[in-house]
Amino acid sequence: MDFQAVSLPQIRWMVPDDIESVMLIEQDGVSSTWGASRFETELANSACRYIVVNSPDKTTPLPAFGGLWLGVDEAHVVTMAVKDPLRRQGFGSLVLRALFAVAMDLQLCSVTLECRVGNDPAQRLYRKFGFVEVGTRPRYYSNGEDALIMTTDETDSSSFQRSLLALDEQLRGKFPGTTFMPEGHALSAGWQGTVRRVKQKFIRVSRSVRSRTP
Ligand SMILES: CC(C)(COP(=O)(O)OP(=O)(O)OC[C@H]1O[C@@H](n2cnc3c(N)ncnc32)[C@H](O)[C@@H]1OP(=O)(O)O)[C@@H](O)C(=O)NCCC(=O)NCCS
Repeated sequence: MDFQAVSLPQIRWMVPDDIESVMLIEQDGVSSTWGASRFETELANSACRYIVVNSPDKTTPLPAFGGLWLGVDEAHVVTMAVKDPLRRQGFGSLVLRALFAVAMDLQLCSVTLECRVGNDPAQRLYRKFGFVEVGTRPRYYSNGEDALIMTTDETDSSSFQRSLLALDEQLRGKFPGTTFMPEGHALSAGWQGTVRRVKQKFIRVSRSVRSRTP
């Protein structure tokens, strides 16, 4: 297989047919890899959004992927990886930028994640994108390694928007013409409806608890 750099990568939603290629990316040094069935479950879950970076010529294997879990106010980066020979070329940044685009399209206020304390490349990438360390989860990973909890500023704050503009400029220099929002982003409407229903239910429950409190 030829893992040459892709001249004009496209961002699109991950589909079940991508799972095999995604697992090949994962096998390149992601210490806890998921099996195919885990990806199938995630893709079927309406609270998850997975993206891949795609080669327009359809012959180059997928260079990178990433996934988000959607919360009521916050998006959680669950996993992301870049095919080993293609690292340090901007694909990780492209994946993270696309995940930000998805989160912001869904009006989620911040993005959070866990990262191994020993994963220096990933931490550098996340810091570059404005993540800051807000805590640790001791022995979070199966090998006993601690996790850093990292989170961004509010996505609609002027500081976040300013640093995103600077990162966008860098990315557009590397990948001119690539749009960050995955193609066919009609998926957002469904999630906003779900969030609205959850919030309404929460308001109803809190009102009923308050009315019963003496
Ligand atoms: C972490 C990972 C996704 C980064 O992807 P990438 O395509 O190499 O990242 P980029 O080329 O976009 O790098 C963006 C920035 O991250 C930092 N960075 C990434 N890899 C780095 C490394 N090996 N050493 C130092 N800094 C690094 C740099 O600041 C870089 O910016 P620069 O190139 O302007 O210096 C990739 O290393 C990977 O797939 N690792 C294995 C899976 C993994 O750890 N996933 C994260 C789980 S929390």
